[in-house]
Amino acid sequence: MSKPLSGKKVVLGVTGSIAAFKAPSLVTRLVSAGAGVVVVMTENATRFVTPLTFETLSGTEVIVSMWPERKAGVRNAEETLGDAERLKHVKLALAADLAIVAPATANIIGKMAGGIADDFLSTELVAMTCPIVVAPAMNVNMMESDAVGENLEILKRRGVVVVEPEIGRLASGAIGRGRLADPDHIVETAMALVAPAQDLVGRTVVVTAGPTEEPIDPVRHIGNRSSGKMGFALAERAVARGAGVVLISGRTALDPPEGVRMVRVETTSQMRDAVLAELPELDLLVMAAAPADYRPATVSERKIKKGEERMTLELVRNDDILLEVRSSKREGQGIVGFALETDDVAANARGKLADKDLDLIVANDAALEGAGFESDTNVATIIGRSGAEEVLEKMSKEAVADVVLTRAIAELGWGADGGE
Ligand code: CTP
Repeated sequence: MSKPLSGKKVVLGVTGSIAAFKAPSLVTRLVSAGAGVVVVMTENATRFVTPLTFETLSGTEVIVSMWPERKAGVRNAEETLGDAERLKHVKLALAADLAIVAPATANIIGKMAGGIADDFLSTELVAMTCPIVVAPAMNVNMMESDAVGENLEILKRRGVVVVEPEIGRLASGAIGRGRLADPDHIVETAMALVAPAQDLVGRTVVVTAGPTEEPIDPVRHIGNRSSGKMGFALAERAVARGAGVVLISGRTALDPPEGVRMVRVETTSQMRDAVLAELPELDLLVMAAAPADYRPATVSERKIKKGEERMTLELVRNDDILLEVRSSKREGQGIVGFALETDDVAANARGKLADKDLDLIVANDAALEGAGFESDTNVATIIGRSGAEEVLEKMSKEAVADVVLTRAIAELGWGADGGE
């Protein structure tokens, strides 16, 4: 089972309120939900809870100062965030999928509203483009002051989600509004902002990825260039959205996403067999692989020694997997193809959509920068059976994967019953 925050990077900002003692339980909840958590504390917060507490719970260094010292035996923040380079505040801000400031004092709320950046956390928050959740905790008079009220209004207008404090006994002994909201409630609010919709629950999605390799002799092959990144991203996103996922892949350097059933193949014929074996059970097939269209007519059992200046390799056509699927699929099964083209991208893709009887085709222009194999980004045009064409901006392959899955769900009319 995939965890709701699997693969998500969360920055938890802790500021100097007595409610900071509740922040460790937020870390525990976020980590159990699968998030990578980097805690950033203000100087004042360290008077209430030690960085060591957060470091132990998150397994990651805690940042207090703009100039953090390296420590042995504990992951650096940039490792948790998947960035091998030395951390800079802007990098942390860019890498984060979500920021939570809990507890948030009147001071940090004021700084956020005013754009003040005078320590690591406040600087971070100004630089962030991800969703931000703020959970205030303070004395009732501060909470009800015009200054804090107006600052919170400013933040809300900018899209910051405020988890309102509860009414209860405060540190001062007074009863009033200002108690940090329940940690479960804070985490649920945060999750709703970034956790993917569970719109593929109960569906089986089969994704093909990577190249196939057709042997010439025991040490050589011909094949297509494909890193497999697009297919792996599709498998990862489909799992995150609740699907049961089978990933059929040729040789790649990638680790299988958590929660997928991995089927490794080498040749187009093996990929064909693997796809046809899954066909009766699948709800959605996404053919992101680049299967070789031809294979050598004969495979030498021994290594071919070099000889003449020229040699001719006779090739024979491989089966087209999607054409075979077309004739064996049943009603209601969704089929998505890819088309990597160098010329007449949309027209060629439309031709393949029709010939292969696809519900959706994702066309890539191999000539564009930031598209195609090896790249971490993609520039795609998605064309549906209905004819609607959607030209996507350059975006990460994960983001493209999410758009493809959303379009497939819409094209197949699965949105209504949600697959629950
Ligand atoms: N495909 C397939 N079986 C093959 C080759 C390709 O199922 N033997 C699938 C790919 O996974 C992709 C789609 O068909 O989803 C289009 O692949 P592409 O290589 O662009 O197209 P081809 O049909 O092979 O046409 P061409 O190479 O002539 O452009």
